[in-house]
Amino acid sequence: MNSSSHPPPGAVEPAGEVDRLQLQSRVWEPSGRRLLNEIGDGRGARALDVGCGAMCWLRVLSDWVGPDGEVVGTDIDEGMLAAAEHFVTDESLANVTLVKDDLFRSALEPSSFDLVHARFQIAPLGRGQEQMAAHLRLVRPGGSVVLEELDPLPWHYIPPAPALAVPLRRGVEVQGLIPLLGDAFRKAGGDPDAAATQLELFHDAGIEVNVRAEVQALPPGHPYLRLPLQFATALKGVLRSFMDADDLDRILGEAERELQDPDRWGLTFTLVQCWGRRET
Ligand SMILES: C[S@@+](CC[C@H](N)C(=O)[O-])C[C@H]1O[C@@H](n2cnc3c(N)ncnc32)[C@H](O)[C@@H]1O
Repeated sequence: MNSSSHPPPGAVEPAGEVDRLQLQSRVWEPSGRRLLNEIGDGRGARALDVGCGAMCWLRVLSDWVGPDGEVVGTDIDEGMLAAAEHFVTDESLANVTLVKDDLFRSALEPSSFDLVHARFQIAPLGRGQEQMAAHLRLVRPGGSVVLEELDPLPWHYIPPAPALAVPLRRGVEVQGLIPLLGDAFRKAGGDPDAAATQLELFHDAGIEVNVRAEVQALPPGHPYLRLPLQFATALKGVLRSFMDADDLDRILGEAERELQDPDRWGLTFTLVQCWGRRET
């Protein structure tokens, strides 16, 4: 989840979102580069990063298309676009342009991109069919659509951190913040099963889908270990709508203490990456 991820407008408290999305983008950049290597040579291509937030694949795509290519990053949120603009300027990404655009009412030219990428967009927005249709309108025939979403299953800590997450195992009751976050996403209109949903979307569109998955080990002290707490902060209003405020505060306090253990490390969620080519 960007990270990624980002609940529907109104459900989220924006403080810290830019930092969280930039950290998350850096963590998953190598996975993006590996996927693009599988797609092939991108030199000279025109690529779109839908809902790019504060960074996402802007640098990855900029490198992939090279100096003769072009990258467009879009978002509906001006604060995110301003942060992305800072990043693009700091990194001197001369082939990247940022545009305010609502993916559901896009003003971008249809069939004008060689590659359309969207990460952590179905989980917060929960409108997978419409989102896929919007991406397919923008990619040219023969071009690629890439979707990335998370599967929370392996997300856990060592030594175990029951307030943060307990991995699914026979005989162990599901507990901790991570399953609660899935409930919060659903309550806010999102789709916590987006990793599976995205596969179905390719099938429904008659597109042969390629699937990759990556999990990362995070060493003690890695800032991305804090992701469940960052999500909980962003989704606090939603969490409070279906659980007791004292229970929530207790879990958050315990989770915070668990993260203070200098020896605790962890595994991320699985990043599930799907891509396929539009045929006609
Ligand atoms: C969870 S964040 C993910 C950001 C980025 N893709 C990443 O992985 O770092 C979702 C992003 O989608 C943007 N967004 C939400 N609704 C949108 C819409 N209708 N059109 C375009 N962007 C949208 C949000 O502003 C936010 O930046």
